[in-house]
Amino acid sequence: MRIEMPKYMERLGALKIYELQRVLELSGGKTSTKLSEEALGSINISSSDLEDIIADMTIIIPVKNENPKVLEGVLSGIPHDAFLVIVSNSSREPLDRYRIELETVFQFYRLTRRPFIMIHQRDLAWSDALPEAGYPHILGDEGLVRNGKGEGMILGLLIAKHIGRRYVGFIDSDNYIPGAVNEYVHVYAAGFYMSRSPYSMVRIKWPYKTKFVGKRFYFRRRGRVSEITNKFMNLLIAHITKFETDIIKTSNAGEHAMTLDLIDKIGYSSGFSIEPYQLVYMLEKYSGVYGKSETLREVFEKGIEIFQIEPRNPHIHEEREESHIPEMMKYSLATIYHSRLADEQLKMLIERELIARGALKHGERVPEPIRYPPLEGVNIDKMFKTLESTAETLVIKG
Ligand code: GDD
Repeated sequence: MRIEMPKYMERLGALKIYELQRVLELSGGKTSTKLSEEALGSINISSSDLEDIIADMTIIIPVKNENPKVLEGVLSGIPHDAFLVIVSNSSREPLDRYRIELETVFQFYRLTRRPFIMIHQRDLAWSDALPEAGYPHILGDEGLVRNGKGEGMILGLLIAKHIGRRYVGFIDSDNYIPGAVNEYVHVYAAGFYMSRSPYSMVRIKWPYKTKFVGKRFYFRRRGRVSEITNKFMNLLIAHITKFETDIIKTSNAGEHAMTLDLIDKIGYSSGFSIEPYQLVYMLEKYSGVYGKSETLREVFEKGIEIFQIEPRNPHIHEEREESHIPEMMKYSLATIYHSRLADEQLKMLIERELIARGALKHGERVPEPIRYPPLEGVNIDKMFKTLESTAETLVIKG
């Protein structure tokens, strides 16, 4: 895979945020470019180097009531050597959709022998396993894990910690194009190949979101929510540097990957606010604005690298109802609004934007995001033992 080298980056304390890089060739030849030759303007990572990284990767798939045929297509696109973790929040009644998903995954396993771990987000076993592990924060009032994509992702990360592979990526389960899924995972691996720090993240920016309109496809360049979140995320950065920027293109990147080391060092949040919150958290903690604590010295020494990469395949996925969009916008911008980096001026601009887009009523307060701490120090062995002995929905094949 050949990718453009970034010519520009924003450096804020420990953070290096690289400008958007495009995939130039899906297969760029069998010789990898050495990192010392990067001045060439592009970098090629051979299939064998990509596959080596993928063999050390866990892929987490969050699922909620998706078409099993689409889920099967997603599984088929994930390269064979990645370990699959499926966290489902699908309904159990009146139809047990989780069972149907499990049968789909199981059938795939029978034919391909792909190792996987699958569990339901609302399995009662989490109510004991999480407090025992020292991470009860995502449990709701009724003692179950809260609903929400963010919470499902955190469960996936906890399982990925148990598996122990060095890299962890997310792939949505509503993607219609297995080839796009396959490219995303290769893009993750390419980002990690370029990285020089143990703390790195790769975020995907879709080139086009595709819809069928009338008799033909329509390729939309801008995401409905991401465009707006990016604008305010960049203003938040400008607040730190005092220079305006448009470096952030991936505030809402559902498709992203991290090193296992980074997972422990960043905070998370509920539902669809999780992706922008990761950036807000890193800006608050690692831009150096509030100094550096001794416990984070190693991260400041090694730095955190954030790659943003644009693949070639368009993104064709399940389109939700329009009502989903204002909510997503509200919870995304809430992470910026409630950041301690945001001043009154930025807060006012966010309120105005949300009101203008019908995502907030006059006089309504921007909701405070539900925030969760980093996963460092969680007792994964204890958590997993409890799950193994009591979880009703846990299936392990590997
Ligand atoms: N486990 C779990 N729990 N999975 C969930 C939940 C949940 O409560 N809610 C949704 N999912 C799964 C869906 O099945 C899908 O695979 C994925 O999470 C994304 O959810 P969608 O509802 O399809 O979101 P979207 O397509 O509108 O938004 C996606 O793109 C945004 C960027 O434009 C998501 O990835 C967002 O996180 C992202 O910001």
